Amino acid sequence: MTSAATANAASAAPYLSINNVEVIYDHVILVLKGVSLQVEKGSIVALLGANGAGKSTTLKSISNLLGAERGDVTKGNIEFKGQRIDQMTPNDLVKRGVIQVMEGRHCFGHLTIEENLLTGAYTRSISRADLKESLEKVYHYFPRLKTRRTSQAGYTSGGEQQMCAIGRALMAKPEMILLDEPSMGLAPQIVEEIFEIVKDLNSREQVSFLLAEQNTMVALRYADYGYIMENGRIVMEGAANELATNEDVKEFYLGLAGEGRKSFRDVKHYRRRKRWLS
Ligand SMILES: Nc1ncnc2c1ncn2[C@@H]1O[C@H](COP(=O)(O)OP(=O)(O)O)[C@@H](O)[C@H]1O
Ligand SMILES: [Mg+2]
Repeated sequence: MTSAATANAASAAPYLSINNVEVIYDHVILVLKGVSLQVEKGSIVALLGANGAGKSTTLKSISNLLGAERGDVTKGNIEFKGQRIDQMTPNDLVKRGVIQVMEGRHCFGHLTIEENLLTGAYTRSISRADLKESLEKVYHYFPRLKTRRTSQAGYTSGGEQQMCAIGRALMAKPEMILLDEPSMGLAPQIVEEIFEIVKDLNSREQVSFLLAEQNTMVALRYADYGYIMENGRIVMEGAANELATNEDVKEFYLGLAGEGRKSFRDVKHYRRRKRWLS
């Protein structure tokens, strides 16, 4: 192969690629049953599904945070920019540019917002000037955090704490953020504000996002592509605008079936049967 062809082949490799991953907790509880998904460089990908579907487990399998929960990747592999990352420590992965923002806004409640943000730079050995520049960048995207910089994080609002958690991740200068349920427990207006900032970071700073969300319709408005998970498997995928208008997706998530919320697979099968019968 010529060097140009090699470079082409390398650029054709997916950016983040999860291949047939199986995860078992406590040696016996099988939670992910062969999950495969891809994130292209510069994109926002939504990982959707009800509570318990396996979204957080998928994100933790990428960021290598399963160990703390007695979880293991028992099959499959995960690659970032063509290199296996499934044996890396979370810290090494952050240095390579991938960072997770955990579900439930993990800020240090007794530290101020600014102190929380500064802790996010711990993996980088940087000058004071560089640190200041990183902080200013976070404040540029999250002006609310600037006004609250000296407040103890524990006393700020849920939205501000979620912003603080994302801002803290930004301090590590990531290429890719694994964002777990940023909308959880927040008022719709704050959710929009946060998603707008995510979109902004994506288009202006070229940060790629893999975003786990139960809030399907909001996530699909901001994402480029989506995967729907159920019971440890991907049951559907597609361009975000196609998923958002897909009748099966709408029926399931907006409860248009009128018989309560069934499994997504049931809705699909039910619709198919309906189509066959009519
Ligand atoms: N540490 C753990 N030990 C055992 N089971 C777990 C653990 N964490 C999650 N699970 C189980 O794995 C399944 C998927 O959970 P999770 O990945 O948190 O789903 P989601 O983020 O989509 O709500 C659930 O059934 C949950 O009970
Ligand atoms: Mg979760």
